[in-house]
Amino acid sequence: MRDFSFYCPTEIIFGKDAEFKTADAALRHGGSRLLLVYGGGSAEKSGLLDRLRSGIEELKLTCGLLGGVQPNPRLGLVRKGIDMALDMRADMIVGVGGGSAIDTAKAIAHGAANPGRDVWDFWLQKEILAKTLPVGAVVTIPAAGSETSDSAVITNETTGKKMGLNTPLNRPVFAIMNPALAATLPAYQAACGVTDIFMHTLERYFSPFSDNTFTDEIAEALMRVVIRYGPRVLKDPSDYEAMSEIMWCASVSHCDLTGLGGIKDFSNHKLGHELGAKFDKPHGATLSALWESWARYVLQKNPERFIKYAGNVWGLKTAGEGIERTVEFFRSLGMPTCLSELGIGRLSDTELDDLALSCTNGKTRTIGSLMKLDCNDVKSIYALANR
Ligand code: NZQ
Ligand code: ZN
Repeated sequence: MRDFSFYCPTEIIFGKDAEFKTADAALRHGGSRLLLVYGGGSAEKSGLLDRLRSGIEELKLTCGLLGGVQPNPRLGLVRKGIDMALDMRADMIVGVGGGSAIDTAKAIAHGAANPGRDVWDFWLQKEILAKTLPVGAVVTIPAAGSETSDSAVITNETTGKKMGLNTPLNRPVFAIMNPALAATLPAYQAACGVTDIFMHTLERYFSPFSDNTFTDEIAEALMRVVIRYGPRVLKDPSDYEAMSEIMWCASVSHCDLTGLGGIKDFSNHKLGHELGAKFDKPHGATLSALWESWARYVLQKNPERFIKYAGNVWGLKTAGEGIERTVEFFRSLGMPTCLSELGIGRLSDTELDDLALSCTNGKTRTIGSLMKLDCNDVKSIYALANR
């Protein structure tokens, strides 16, 4: 097992009516002037936002509201949120929704804690983030795991770049998780979420190292549970038992626990982010569209790992069977498994070049750890998926 540091300080408040504990959690974590950040309508329509506001007002806390976060959340709204947070002297930012709302809340917290600096410079690594405001999360879709993760993914709509920032300062101080809040999810959105949850552990499992018994067994158990309960939440998002399992898996899958002692790969995420930024497609769908191509491309780097995955997750014998069964799983969820199924047609050679160049920051970086992929490798993987 390799050395690691694991810091996951988020207080998880899980269960029925958990949203009524939001104001109290905010207060306990030092918040009295809260900016609530939410999406395009679901939190308003379900009445969640009203419930949160009345709880906050009951405790005599101040509450500002910023709606309109889009999936693949944009930097422009982050900048607007930073201005609002500074105007109202917010001391806590609360994301209400999924990865997009929570990541926007994280970015606003960073900008508001560092006035006078361009918040995007933290993503570009031109500035090192040293302080932020506390962030809370009220989760309405199990997917990105942003409620416990050290990551925030924002799209700069001016440059067309979608980028993650990883720092311990991204970990929310609390997460409110009531599985019933996800009961209104459309099936496709739920499927994107299930795919992302599965992928967060899969991308950690395919580490160059294979000697982490406890971590591997946690990872394998998580994937088996997602396989078992994922189809149930698609069929009926109000199935509380199934949604509970999936929602808890989402948070554990991306808090780092399922990869400790290894080196996470995450090349499929980096490949997918390029498609998310260029074509504005749901994150989970970009991952399933590329995974098979990635897996077949890197298989020979560590075939034993693929065999272990096939056996312990799917009860199969060979690496190839494990890959095929994974692809079938994505199909059974209604997820795309190649670029045309993602709804972007077949790309030209120039478009593949552009994607590969952007993904490797103009050939200045490689991605992945199981196999370090340079610009040519990246293009080859996009080309394999281009069908
Ligand atoms: O905007 P509203 O109206 O709320 O609708 C949202 C949105 O259209 C809808 N939705 C959410 N909860 C709902 C609901 N609709 C009905 N009922 C509910 N209860 O779902 C749609 C997608 O929301 P979004 O927040 O975009 O989904 P998700 O949680 O999948 O987040 C995706 C974003 O997170 C990033 C992705 O790249 C993407 O930008 N990620 C963030 C990570 C992190 N911070 O750790 C890690 C991930 O790998 C990922 O990259
Ligand atoms: Zn993801």
